[in-house]
Amino acid sequence: MKNHQTAASLEKTLANSYLLQLKLQNYHWNVVGPHFKPLHELFGAQYEELSVSIDEIAERLRGLGAKVEATFEHFQKLSKIKNGDKNLNSDAMIKDLIASHEIVVADLKAGTKAAQEEGDEASADLFINRTTAHEKAIWMLVSSL
Ligand SMILES: [Fe+2]
Repeated sequence: MKNHQTAASLEKTLANSYLLQLKLQNYHWNVVGPHFKPLHELFGAQYEELSVSIDEIAERLRGLGAKVEATFEHFQKLSKIKNGDKNLNSDAMIKDLIASHEIVVADLKAGTKAAQEEGDEASADLFINRTTAHEKAIWMLVSSL
């Protein structure tokens, strides 16, 4: 397999993205309060955007020759993102999502560096594009508090 550090970062990004997608769905379904509708829609839009990226990340891993270990057990081993809590109030949900996006961004920045060091420009491009998307998501969540 080519580009070991890059592949490890892609795997971690896949795990982070999957667990964050599940948390966004949890909060999309369970959020309550006076801002229900905009938050329900914002969380929904964010998990739909992530869902598309998950396929791109997994297929880039295949492009590097790695098999994709697609199980929640494996994702939970690789990621620092914890399960969501359906009973949080809406502000606590937003704060939890911001913290989770920040975990993804930190790992994406390490991934960008690894890909650049291994001369894998295509993966570096993917990491940078994902960083842009997560930083935009953070901005929208911070602006909702
Ligand atoms: Fe929905």
